[in-house]
Amino acid sequence: MNRDLTSILDLSPDELERVLDVAIAMKSDGGGTPLHGQTLALLFEKPSLRTRVSFEMAMRRLGGSALYLAGHEVQMGEREPVRDVARVLSRMVEGIAVRTFEHERVAELAEWADVPVVNALSEHEHPCQALADLLTLRERFGRLRGLRLVYVGEGNNVARSLAFASVTAGVDFVCASPEGYELPADDLVKASELPGGGSATQVNDPESAVSDANAVYTDVWASMGFETELQGRLEAFQPYQLNAELLAAAPADALVMHDLPAHRGEEITDELIESDRSVVFDQSENRMHAQQAVLSLILGGSPV
Ligand code: CP
Ligand code: NVA
Repeated sequence: MNRDLTSILDLSPDELERVLDVAIAMKSDGGGTPLHGQTLALLFEKPSLRTRVSFEMAMRRLGGSALYLAGHEVQMGEREPVRDVARVLSRMVEGIAVRTFEHERVAELAEWADVPVVNALSEHEHPCQALADLLTLRERFGRLRGLRLVYVGEGNNVARSLAFASVTAGVDFVCASPEGYELPADDLVKASELPGGGSATQVNDPESAVSDANAVYTDVWASMGFETELQGRLEAFQPYQLNAELLAAAPADALVMHDLPAHRGEEITDELIESDRSVVFDQSENRMHAQQAVLSLILGGSPV
């Protein structure tokens, strides 16, 4: 398996399946302590609950430890160049998980670090979230191939990673977005050319998109760092709210998904998050299991 996980594109269909297999095994048997003595640096330039805790707990469960480094303290790119941060950390820790704005920063860290680098969210992708989401779907349906995952909202980092991960896992992914907020065409081409047997398509009509969905997924209407744009987006995104009316257009057993944190009353209603069809807290928990699998595989604790 690739040393770094900066993008879902780093994973072949076999590797993605292996991550999920290992995650399922570790979820049931704990996975032992193959990373005893190893430390993962968490270099976070944005807030987090799930990602930080799931990485910290994944390392702890594997016998290692995590070291949280707040972005305002490291001041990567200001106090010192990204490449120096990469080389200094490489002398002291066994891996780096980074949450930042520009994806180029993740790539630069990976280029200069001698240790594995994992993308813990950039503006471009959120690969660890997509792995946890596929794990959740696999648990619920007993398979991934042939499922239809419909994402309703902005064609953002979460949607992009889901598109890439879905195609790689044989899932049919549909992104339903307001005009002007779709996934870029080149990402759809890139997704469609991936091996794995799934598909990725972009549409504008949310109701017809969800009509044969196995799961309906949404994310915030303005990502971290773009909160000031929310006000100007509300009107365009309102028809894309995941609410009882939209879910009524989906099959009666379609699941409700959200990566969290959710803005109840904006992209999703309180009622749907709290409904029996919601798997949002399974998704959150599965962040830890999926990352345990990723870390054990790329930090060398278990055979790939
Ligand atoms: N879903 C997710 O990444 O949550 P956090 O921003 O709290 O880490
Ligand atoms: N799209 C969101 C995901 C948060 C987990 C963001 O980037 O803020």
